[in-house]
Amino acid sequence: MTRNQKTIVVGVTGGIAAYKTCELVRALVKRGHRVKVVMTEAATRFVTPLVFRTLTNEPVGVSLWADEPGSPVHHVSLAEEADVMVIAPCTANVIAKLAHGRADDLLTTTALATEAPLVIAPAMNVHMWRRDVTQANLAALSARGVTIVEPGVGELACGDVGEGRLAPVEEILAAVEVETARARDLEGVRVLVTAGGTHEPIDPVRYVGNRSSGKTGFAIAAEAVRRGAEVTLVTGPTHLADPFGCTVVRIQTALEMHAAVMERAADADLVVMSAAVADFRPADPADGKIKKAEAPDRITLVGNPDILAELGQRADVRAVLVGFAAETSDVLEHARKKLAAKRCHLIVANDVSDPSVGFGTEHNRVWFITSSGAEETGLTSKNAIARTLLDRARKLLPAR
Ligand code: CTP
Repeated sequence: MTRNQKTIVVGVTGGIAAYKTCELVRALVKRGHRVKVVMTEAATRFVTPLVFRTLTNEPVGVSLWADEPGSPVHHVSLAEEADVMVIAPCTANVIAKLAHGRADDLLTTTALATEAPLVIAPAMNVHMWRRDVTQANLAALSARGVTIVEPGVGELACGDVGEGRLAPVEEILAAVEVETARARDLEGVRVLVTAGGTHEPIDPVRYVGNRSSGKTGFAIAAEAVRRGAEVTLVTGPTHLADPFGCTVVRIQTALEMHAAVMERAADADLVVMSAAVADFRPADPADGKIKKAEAPDRITLVGNPDILAELGQRADVRAVLVGFAAETSDVLEHARKKLAAKRCHLIVANDVSDPSVGFGTEHNRVWFITSSGAEETGLTSKNAIARTLLDRARKLLPAR
């Protein structure tokens, strides 16, 4: 296997369109990819594993229990090997399983276990496609960052006419190639990400904090790891577990985050400041718990250092700097000012006054702002934002 060769795991489920997957597999092999096919039992009723075995020159997996003696196809190894997983055709049943995390055969187990991006190309009867439960399952998958190659409209194998026809092979191929291009495109890039809010102590048990959940920063760190970067995540208090494969530094206060970032910034190629750093801290936190009877009637605050602005001024920091701007009004105007004032290369701005997006939610609508312009995303998942952010930041990295 050459260094640039990518492993694509192709999942085939039980629909008549499975015969078109032979074309897809052939095209992927022709493009130089290593292709491993995994089929559901139902899929083998339409196309035999031997067809894919011959097209790919690789063992084909069907059962969780070693299909071919001597060359077992194991869900964990398949999941780990995959740079991209594509399921085409993907039936309503498998969409439902994926949406609910079910894993009762080799294909769904691999899909659940893999960290690789997942592309699905649904194909089914028009009524099954239109059913609210199918659409809800697709929406859930899309929210988790799964790419859905929408089916086309036309005459279906069952005789009905409508949506449900497997998308043309070229469309599926294009979606796979978008993900393939991202696979390991940050190899060797040193990424420093900050996440979460900070807790600024009033006394040993009380603090001033904010609503940041840390989800966006954790999603960025996980995505950067998936794409081959060396990632350090500096995070404020959050309930989220450490993302796999990165160095995690847990801090409490803005001053601690400042120290942790300053210590590492000169060694980074990319710094993403997604933390909601508290701008102020209580000036004089008490050493012991303040008793109710001694409650102060005011708390004096002092400013915290602006980490991003300081990075923008440090001569030894060569990294591409990405900042966030959480705004409640005039989003673009404020964000542009931050881009200039903090001397960063990219600002991801969002409107936190909208309760359906932003802090603590799964979805967001953001603007990506550079000195050359602004572009808005639609309402999208934090994973998808992480992906686009890294696509854009990568383009700003000096050619290496
Ligand atoms: N930031 C930082 N250090 C701070 C405050 C913010 O590094 N003390 C970073 C954030 O991580 C974010 C960007 O600066 O990437 C913008 O944060 P935001 O809170 O939107 O802006 P502020 O600079 O705090 O400005 P304001 O509160 O006036 O909007």
